[in-house]
Amino acid sequence: MSGLLTPPRPRGRPAAAPPTEAPAGLLPPDTAAILSALPLPAMVLDEEDRFRYANNAAELFFQISFASLTALRLGDLLPRDSRLFGLLAQVRAQGGQVADHDLTLESPRLHRRGVTAHGAPLPELPGAVVLTLQDGSKAQMLDRQLNSQGAARGASAMAAMLAHEVKNPLSGIRGAAQLLEAGVSESDRELCLLIQDEADRIRGLVDRMDMFSDRPVELAPVNVHQALDHVRRVALSGFAAHLHIIEDYDPSLPPVWGNRDILVQILLNLVKNAAEAVDPAGGEIVLTTAFHHGVRIAVPGSRERVHLPLQVMVRDNGPGIAEAVQETLFEPFVTTKRGGQGLGLALVAKLVADIGGLIECDSRPGRTVFRISLAMPAPGAAGEAAAPLGGAP
Ligand SMILES: Nc1ncnc2c1ncn2[C@@H]1O[C@H](COP(=O)(O)OP(=O)(O)OP(=O)(O)O)[C@@H](O)[C@H]1O
Ligand SMILES: [Mg+2]
Repeated sequence: MSGLLTPPRPRGRPAAAPPTEAPAGLLPPDTAAILSALPLPAMVLDEEDRFRYANNAAELFFQISFASLTALRLGDLLPRDSRLFGLLAQVRAQGGQVADHDLTLESPRLHRRGVTAHGAPLPELPGAVVLTLQDGSKAQMLDRQLNSQGAARGASAMAAMLAHEVKNPLSGIRGAAQLLEAGVSESDRELCLLIQDEADRIRGLVDRMDMFSDRPVELAPVNVHQALDHVRRVALSGFAAHLHIIEDYDPSLPPVWGNRDILVQILLNLVKNAAEAVDPAGGEIVLTTAFHHGVRIAVPGSRERVHLPLQVMVRDNGPGIAEAVQETLFEPFVTTKRGGQGLGLALVAKLVADIGGLIECDSRPGRTVFRISLAMPAPGAAGEAAAPLGGAP
């Protein structure tokens, strides 16, 4: 996926002139500037469905740079029976605006559901259509992310309570069982051991819950490739020893603004889930880093939007997220595994929020991607890995 995009253009400026014969300056500069500032994918298709203009969000949507898009027609990206072609035909026939909701755009490189498309004629260019796409799945994912942050906050209050109310009496129970063990019969000793084992299990659970409690997080520039490498080595020497873990890094990626231990904890949970999901034979996990210019997120309670251009992805070729848990994936105690606690992704959601990032999941059979978007360090931020990275160590 990385490397498909050209270096991002400065926002608010018209698209760079394509190297092909597509006419430069086709749109009045102010129109292009307005379109390129839109957060929605927006494009102009001529009467033969060739791309005459695509804004930054459209490049991201199709994962193709504008320069490459100008050499393509929409039919090169989507099958001819896509409802989108019907919409374009309707706009041209009626000479007015047409919208279509809940479109599925499916092709070898594109998998979007719940997309809303708006088409409108462009009088300056006969037969041309201005097309905007609204990615429903993205809106739903953001919604889910915000819900999951709420869920994680609920869990953090519970964690503090559990740690306080359960841990102390539990160690008393365990100690008592240990004392009893010395003076009881063989059959009763087994019961004492059972009490100790169960007490240990509850303690483990409470310790995991404790990670939800709100502690101050120190943020610093972090070399994400070093964190990924550490996670990869831990995974390969333990729970993923039988699997392939492939690295697909953008070596020019600058440090991320975060916390190394938290990043490792997030990634370990994601890689562990991936390892548990894939087929033990032929299972593949891909770790990817990339720079994507367009990701911005609103800061709750302010009009500011933070830029989250650094992406870290964990992808697997397992069966995909079960439908039953898709809506509540990031909530605590949601699991489909025997013996699973359902705490991994709830913790991940909380930790990603702690370091000011965004997590999204895109899953279908054979391809599940968890994508974390992170911020760059503020200019002048000191700390670990302040210099650009030279790739994975
Ligand atoms: N990569 C994945 N592929 C398929 N399903 C997944 C994947 N990651 C998570 N899931 C689904 O999401 C559920 C919740 O994951 P989560 O990590 O929160 O809990 P868990 O793995 O079941 O238990 P725990 O992490 O607490 O041991 C899982 O039970 C599984 O059904
Ligand atoms: Mg898990």
